[in-house]
Amino acid sequence: MSLTPTREDKFTFGLWTVGWQARDPFGDATRAPLDPVRTVQELASRGAYGVTFHDDDLIPFGSNEADREAHIVRFKKALSDTGMKIPMATTNLFSHPIFKDGALTSNDRDIRRFALMKVMRNIDLAVELGAEIYVAWGGREGAESDGAKDAYVALERYREGFNILSQFVIDRGYSIKFAIEPKPNEPRGDIFLPTIGHAIAFINSLEHPEMVGVNPEVGHEQMAGLNFVHGISQALFHNKLFHIDLNGQHGPKFDQDLVFGHGDLKSAFFLVDLLERYNYQGPKHFDYKPARTENDKGVWESATANMRTYLLLKERALAFRNDPRVKAAMVDSHIDQLEIPTLSSGESWKDIELDSIDVEAAGERGYGYEKIDQLAIEHLMGVQEKE
Ligand code: GCO
Ligand code: MN
Ligand code: MN
Repeated sequence: MSLTPTREDKFTFGLWTVGWQARDPFGDATRAPLDPVRTVQELASRGAYGVTFHDDDLIPFGSNEADREAHIVRFKKALSDTGMKIPMATTNLFSHPIFKDGALTSNDRDIRRFALMKVMRNIDLAVELGAEIYVAWGGREGAESDGAKDAYVALERYREGFNILSQFVIDRGYSIKFAIEPKPNEPRGDIFLPTIGHAIAFINSLEHPEMVGVNPEVGHEQMAGLNFVHGISQALFHNKLFHIDLNGQHGPKFDQDLVFGHGDLKSAFFLVDLLERYNYQGPKHFDYKPARTENDKGVWESATANMRTYLLLKERALAFRNDPRVKAAMVDSHIDQLEIPTLSSGESWKDIELDSIDVEAAGERGYGYEKIDQLAIEHLMGVQEKE
């Protein structure tokens, strides 16, 4: 298998990822701004499929109409010159001070209306550029103190916001779908819809739940101490995995946005295994930040690193699944038996009552999962077979 990314791999990057100037709460930028046109060209030459953007990544906040148009025209030209796609777009509802107390859940009604207008305006552009997914990351939708905001009522406004936006999409005749991106905290002390599970439950309360799914990010679930592979399994189970943000994180701490696989590598291995086995067809979107220590050269090296890591993990996961030792160990462990429905057809709970099981023997059984786990680790380390 080749480790050179191709368009078929559908790797995408946010303009804000490689374009991050590495300003953090303690220090100034360490890199110059990146022209989105150059980003498109650099990523195209490295085998990426496309880019994604916030409105403000492309058109600086407050630009006049003429400037806005000029930015769009240049960007479109870069896309047509390179064949790069825009599968997803999103709105910056977090940088400008107007959003310091949130956007769709701001206590200030005029700010909520301004935020909706900003989203609708960028959806028009997203559709024009061919996007099919519209991400909603509510980074400022939250609070630092529970007295500041009624979280129950905030969810009502959040729901109203998605209902309005869904109606906008329907009335315009767009085929765009929304993907909510959960995050537990940062920049707010606590963010609404903190995990995949919260978001899916919320989506079921909307007027058009079929138009809304999730865009889970590796690091965000791990910041909450959760198992990302399980979270993605549940999103797939509910047909809600509309998009995915791949990156790396070392457990519950600040949002690291590391290169994919540069955090919990074993979880990344089982994530790629899951996405490939369930034939996830959406873009593999890297939402990471090149470390603050890197210069321009390091930025592009890190971009390539994301894609290589995915391809390597795909190769290793396939080898793991096809290894006869793994297959045999899985049969020995009865892993395949989870596929068997607990009731046979025609049975009811009454048939369970009549069952008998040797409780002692069942309690003594060993499951052999450690053997499988070690085989996974060895495949992950590139060891195919060794005595
Ligand atoms: C984060 C978020 C953001 C969003 C992006 C889309 O790292 O906290 O991932 O990067 O995904 O801004 O709005
Ligand atoms: Mn993040
Ligand atoms: Mn993200």
